[in-house]
Amino acid sequence: MAKLDTIIRGGTVATASDTFRCDVGIRDGRIAQLGEDLGQAGEVIDAAGLLVLPGGIDSHVHFCQDSGPGIVMADDFESGTRSAAFGGNTTVMPFCIQQKGHGLRQALKDYHALAEGKCYTDVSFHLVISDPTPQVLGQELPALVDDGYTSFKVFMTYQDLALSDLQMLEVMATARETGSFVMVHAENYDAIRFLTDRLERAGHTAPHFHGTSRPVPVEREATHRAISLAEIIDVPVMIVHVSNGEAMEEIRRAQSRGLKVFGETCPQYLVLTEKDMEGLNMEGAKYVCSPPPRDKAAQDACWLGLQTGVFSVFSSDHCPFRYDDPKGKLIPKGRTSFRWVPNGIPGVETRLPILFSEGVSKGRITLNQFVALTATNHAKMYGLAPRKGTIAVGSDADIALWDANRKVRIAAQDLHHGADYTPYEGIEVTGWPVRTIVRGKTVVADGKLIGAMNHGTHLKRDRSPYAAPTGKQITSFAPAGSHKG
Ligand code: URP
Ligand code: ZN
Ligand code: ZN
Repeated sequence: MAKLDTIIRGGTVATASDTFRCDVGIRDGRIAQLGEDLGQAGEVIDAAGLLVLPGGIDSHVHFCQDSGPGIVMADDFESGTRSAAFGGNTTVMPFCIQQKGHGLRQALKDYHALAEGKCYTDVSFHLVISDPTPQVLGQELPALVDDGYTSFKVFMTYQDLALSDLQMLEVMATARETGSFVMVHAENYDAIRFLTDRLERAGHTAPHFHGTSRPVPVEREATHRAISLAEIIDVPVMIVHVSNGEAMEEIRRAQSRGLKVFGETCPQYLVLTEKDMEGLNMEGAKYVCSPPPRDKAAQDACWLGLQTGVFSVFSSDHCPFRYDDPKGKLIPKGRTSFRWVPNGIPGVETRLPILFSEGVSKGRITLNQFVALTATNHAKMYGLAPRKGTIAVGSDADIALWDANRKVRIAAQDLHHGADYTPYEGIEVTGWPVRTIVRGKTVVADGKLIGAMNHGTHLKRDRSPYAAPTGKQITSFAPAGSHKG
């Protein structure tokens, strides 16, 4: 048998199901052997005292995304994947957005050009459908699904992105016909517009009123509606960035009725609340994201959702803007309210340490749940398994070595994203990734960037095993029995 390139020796391996002591042998970027006494290799990495985990997969990030006139996102592919690698991630999944009046193919061509040669980790693009014309749904999308772009996000809010219920149904029907996987941003656009207008008229314009303009019912109602629309079409759906117990309950109830409804939550809903913005004027903009962080009860509900499997994925929703920058979070001249603060916060580098520390170190979830929520389930959900998301013979050698005892105080100055702040400043975590290996090559070790910027590659994906079976023309809708109870 050919000599191994690398052996990771002496560590404790954890997957989504098991934790065990073994060495990992790597050849040609893939895991070739698991066991003891693996013999000689070009490189031996001493992992004694460390955890050997599948590299994180963050299936919800935003890099160099068009964010409106005069606004520039803080991360391109270079800084975004660099930050991801420092945070123990080996694959990230950003969104390629269709602009209204334009096609998907051209959007993808442009987005690939931005990523080409600029990635430290692997990447795989979701699509965003903002203009579901007959041409897009009838021709472009089916061809792109066959080409490996097998998931897309739709928005129920935001100007130029929000789809009507009729459009949601059309898009979901196409997902069912093509076997693609639908992700939904669930917030009621009209309710947000109504509340925003009223707040502005009352002079409540500071960034912390962003949360007031999007209260829990805005999210709960849209979550219920998205699930109902998906039920009518009989298509699986992922509700992304769930922030509270009422929306989580909608998902849980649908799951208990046997519907293929999945949920995602994010670090901001576990460790931030609306109180973080209290007393802040413009600095409150550092926390503006949608849905907004809520209260302690909502945090507890999100933990319950993670513990009980209502949420299958834990993502960052990394959407970075610089704070001290007129092209970032500061309200542009001539604009007057929180309405104009770009939505989104950075978090790709801190996602894993926050969940490890608050979850595993504090005993809320097991190490195996951590692996499932941060890597394995993302790979399975989005058609990357078994190549990605686990430690198994034949899988890509995407691995993060963790020091479970290392204490770190999160500070913007130590992070590697393009933003000039972190909303998690000062939070102390226990557990930190000390080496990130992408397809067998070390990208980050002991706080140093070692990898090449062109090592990361774009991954075409299989259809999600959770998506509707393909090739089925729709002749009937809502599944028999779905109205029971
Ligand atoms: O505020 C957020 N979450 N911005 C990112 C865009 C999105 O909706 O995911
Ligand atoms: Zn969203
Ligand atoms: Zn997002």
